[in-house]
Amino acid sequence: MRDGRGRGPRKLTRRALLRYGLMGSALAVTGGLGALVQGCTLRGHGQAPGVVRALQETFLPDVEIALRARPAQLALRPEGPPTPVWRYEVEVLRGPSEAVRALPDTYLGPILKLRRGQRVRVRFRNELPEETIVHWHGLHVPAVMDGHPRYAVGPGGEFVYEFAVVDRAGTYWFHPHPHRRTGPQVYRGLAGLLLVSDPQEEALGLPADEFDVPLVLQDRTLDAANRLVYAQGGMGGMGNMLGFLGDEIWVNGRPTTEFALRVARHPYRLRVLNGSNSRIYKLAWGDGTPLTVIGTDGGLLTSPVRRPYVMLGPGERVELWADFRAYPVGTELELVSLPFEGGMGSMGGPGTPTALPNGAGFRVLRVLVEREAPADRAVELPLQLSAPERPAPEEAVNAGRPRTFALAMTPMVGWTINGRVFEMEGVAPEETVRLGTTELWTFDNAAGAGGRRGMMGGGMGAMAAMPHPMHVHGLQFAVVGRELVDPSWGAAWESVREGFVDEGLKDTVLVMPGTRARLALRFEDFEGLFLYHCHNLEHEDMGMMRNYLVRP
Ligand code: C2O
Ligand code: CU
Ligand code: CU
Repeated sequence: MRDGRGRGPRKLTRRALLRYGLMGSALAVTGGLGALVQGCTLRGHGQAPGVVRALQETFLPDVEIALRARPAQLALRPEGPPTPVWRYEVEVLRGPSEAVRALPDTYLGPILKLRRGQRVRVRFRNELPEETIVHWHGLHVPAVMDGHPRYAVGPGGEFVYEFAVVDRAGTYWFHPHPHRRTGPQVYRGLAGLLLVSDPQEEALGLPADEFDVPLVLQDRTLDAANRLVYAQGGMGGMGNMLGFLGDEIWVNGRPTTEFALRVARHPYRLRVLNGSNSRIYKLAWGDGTPLTVIGTDGGLLTSPVRRPYVMLGPGERVELWADFRAYPVGTELELVSLPFEGGMGSMGGPGTPTALPNGAGFRVLRVLVEREAPADRAVELPLQLSAPERPAPEEAVNAGRPRTFALAMTPMVGWTINGRVFEMEGVAPEETVRLGTTELWTFDNAAGAGGRRGMMGGGMGAMAAMPHPMHVHGLQFAVVGRELVDPSWGAAWESVREGFVDEGLKDTVLVMPGTRARLALRFEDFEGLFLYHCHNLEHEDMGMMRNYLVRP
């Protein structure tokens, strides 16, 4: 292939794979769709420098795509110079061309549209000036295919992914995952949606094609020369501790000052992804109409639920049913984020000056009902949507004593999980689980807030809490409980508590300060090292991320 200049791309040797304990990591599969990945072996492929290939001997892809991450220039404002961005570009090499749908005028990557059961090969090439790797957020894939930072490839490097899509129909996404650089890389534009469909979902007749609309919510700051500004509060300043917040809300990789969503009088399926680095949304309709939620991170719910608003932390997805037949042509609606408390945590001191604090109220998107619907078919909201198999808490091997992960600010260290920060291959005994088991985990965001106040004395303790959107790689879990532990966060809790949609499957759970969330997780099919971390990307880059090991 090509030489990687500068920091040379790394190659995974067979020995390295053995050292990581990855040989045959995808072997432990049971029947069903899992059988598609049976017989997979992994090896560093020797034939081309700079190519890392997770090659599976009998792998015949249904879909093969070339994916590149590269710099580009985009006119995002009507005036002034184009904006330098980094972007994913995709080309279908084999399989249906519908597998990729480009979005116009955006830095976002194209939408990958896959079907459950497909075998996919992705030839990823890094054309950036720094190392990167691609992660498939929400998918259940072998550890070596998951985009762990230890597989990051340098400039000019490649990584070939091969995996079967065993996931439920739903809204997933892909983004970079190199250690310490995920925040800036996503911010510059590297992210894309990955939609999975299956026959059961199609049989529901949900709004499709032009009525199936992705809404990727992000916040960005442009300077006077139309360049994206990432530094906040100075290098290493408070901005880094809190997470980056942009001055403006952008949807689908474009400033929303430049467009509105133009809809027909027809039901829509709105697939909302919070792709922001650290901003949390309290999503609602501006006219007070409740939100009708049909899906979350891991696909459709059993049946639709209504909420006055929905909390959406970074990394989370929510699918909404929006029926614009209720409005005459000419109506202008707004999707908004309502104000809430606790978004900036309590850091003591002045905090970071920001035009749009986390927890401020703002408009997300204007929606214009601009035309009648085509009269061809009636679409009604199905009362039964799907049958998600949620891991059952009563089957947990640790039913009476959940594993607890304390989320806290450790002085001189930063944001930590049980007092630790990320180590590339490091995993603690209490981060080791058995293949084929169900466990209860508790993410405890109260340990740092109230509990430490006494110990640390005075104002220091109050520095210790912020919301943490906790994400677990490689699976979809059930959120089986949330509770307010520290009453000093009671008002913040009251301002968000009706907005959690825990009925279905999740891969990311927003844990507000002073509260705990309890999850049931099932570790299936794949052994090896997987990540769990805070999806506030600045927290993640600072080390609020750990491995967990699935062992036989
Ligand atoms: Cu969306 Cu580890 O991330
Ligand atoms: Cu992920
Ligand atoms: Cu965090």
